[in-house]
Amino acid sequence: QRQAGGKAASTEAVASVTESQARLTVLYGSQTGNAKRLAEELGRRATAAGLAVRVVRADAYPVRELKQERLLYIVISTQGDAEPPDDSRALIEFLGSARAPKLESLRYAVLGLGDSSYPQFCAIGRQVDQRLAVLGGQRLFTAGEADVDLESVSQPWLEQALQQAREQLKTATPLAKVTPLRTARNAPVWHREQPFAAPLLLNQRITGRHSDRDVRHLELSLEGSGLRYAPGDALGVWPTQAPALVDAVLGTLRLDGETSVQVAGEALSLRTWLGERRELTQLTRPFFAAHAERSGEIALREWLAPTSREALAELFSRWQLLDLLRRHPADWTADTLVAALRPLAPRLYSIASSQAVVGEEVHLTVSHVDYAIDGEARWGAASRYLAGRAEGETVPVFIESNERFHLPADDSRDIIMIGPGTGVAPFRAFVQERAERGAGGKNWLLFGNPHFQSDFLYQVEWQQALKSGQLHRIDLAFSRDQADKIYVQHRLREQGRRLYEWLEGGAHLYVCGDASRMAKDVHKALIEIVAEHGTRTAEDAEAWLNLLIQQGRYARDVY
Ligand code: 2AM
Repeated sequence: QRQAGGKAASTEAVASVTESQARLTVLYGSQTGNAKRLAEELGRRATAAGLAVRVVRADAYPVRELKQERLLYIVISTQGDAEPPDDSRALIEFLGSARAPKLESLRYAVLGLGDSSYPQFCAIGRQVDQRLAVLGGQRLFTAGEADVDLESVSQPWLEQALQQAREQLKTATPLAKVTPLRTARNAPVWHREQPFAAPLLLNQRITGRHSDRDVRHLELSLEGSGLRYAPGDALGVWPTQAPALVDAVLGTLRLDGETSVQVAGEALSLRTWLGERRELTQLTRPFFAAHAERSGEIALREWLAPTSREALAELFSRWQLLDLLRRHPADWTADTLVAALRPLAPRLYSIASSQAVVGEEVHLTVSHVDYAIDGEARWGAASRYLAGRAEGETVPVFIESNERFHLPADDSRDIIMIGPGTGVAPFRAFVQERAERGAGGKNWLLFGNPHFQSDFLYQVEWQQALKSGQLHRIDLAFSRDQADKIYVQHRLREQGRRLYEWLEGGAHLYVCGDASRMAKDVHKALIEIVAEHGTRTAEDAEAWLNLLIQQGRYARDVY
């Protein structure tokens, strides 16, 4: 959900079109930040190899330059079922249109990202790959299709891309003749691979005692880090696995935690690998396959059949590593286990504070994911880690910028914020920031959660904001306070005319929270509202909303 970059959105370097002969362009389309990260990694490594390269977000790329590109890599994700990331809609549409130019001198390769639990896995990457070929481009090598465990496909793809770039650019204009690249901005001191140890200032449950949900308001200190963020940005958090979980995995597999394991030149104890470097709360298809192989159980192999894709995804939403290891025993050695498990990835949380108000602090709204399987507790790695941190302890963090989810530059614009559950987090930051700036535009919040009594997150703050005129309207959907479910989209429909008027008046619309159901249902409601109040067909209403997305006036931060 998160993008970065200065105004030019060329995060590595800026170069002129005339250099395209000797230059690599890496375009990315990213919704959750993975494609962006990989594109930037490729950019960094190409720069380190002495190649001229620019990395550009799809919606910041002037498509007229396509004709002049000689070497182009595209890293692009697929959302849900065959949807492009929001930042790539215009590019995809352009490529598919009659306006797309012939690309006879283009050499290219595509890395698609996706989630194989959807039937249309990597559909957008595939589509771009095919379309560039139809337009006359020469595919340098087969498109990569990376699943949720990105690295196993993306790293070999990156290697190949670098290798090819070296060969392709070697014969072009010597590097010395290329104008030296100007760095777009200085890299921050603290980043994903080098996080800042932020002291925890406050860890407070903000759902009532009787709530089913344990939602925390966390405040961390960024003092002395120099880290800056804007409302809409995310905080990356590197969790540590619970020691009890590491012990349970070791015990189940009868492995000694003190065994030294070396991977890629780094020797650590097995306990450290599991506790700090590997995912233990999620299952992946490659690990499942390796485990099936080791166990020799036919039943496990059957789960891997193409026809079982959806069933396996459903299983992965419930089962964790331990559930598989216990139910279907197999022998693992320390080395093979570390090699087969997916590397730990940081979790991204939408920031719930404005730096204009809280200074060198950062606030988060975190739902502690916690459930039981056969009476035994299971949890989400990062939420458990955060919920269990005591004030004064530190948390390794970094800022992940999310340029597409920022406030309108024009303070007189109205904003509509749809954020049920912890999706409300960035809107706390928005309202804080707009109040501090004295923004003239109106702020409208739609919030939902199970119960008014126990789950009205930041209730007092919203009431104060309403009173002081910092918030102009709030609509609430407490889903379980009555017989029939009421969700934010029901409130939207009730307020359809008003919503449409705000949008017609130039308002920016933001949606944050659950991607699997909420964001889709809200989108459907928006189409209906625009059709009804704008007297359009459903198709035109959808096109109208797509235009808003392209213009950056309808932004989603969903997960
Ligand atoms: P529920 O759990 O009672 O079904 C935050 O999680 C809030 O979002 C809860 O009130 C939850 O309701 C609600 N919610 C669940 N599914 C939703 C959907 N498809 N659209 C909007 N809100 C939804």
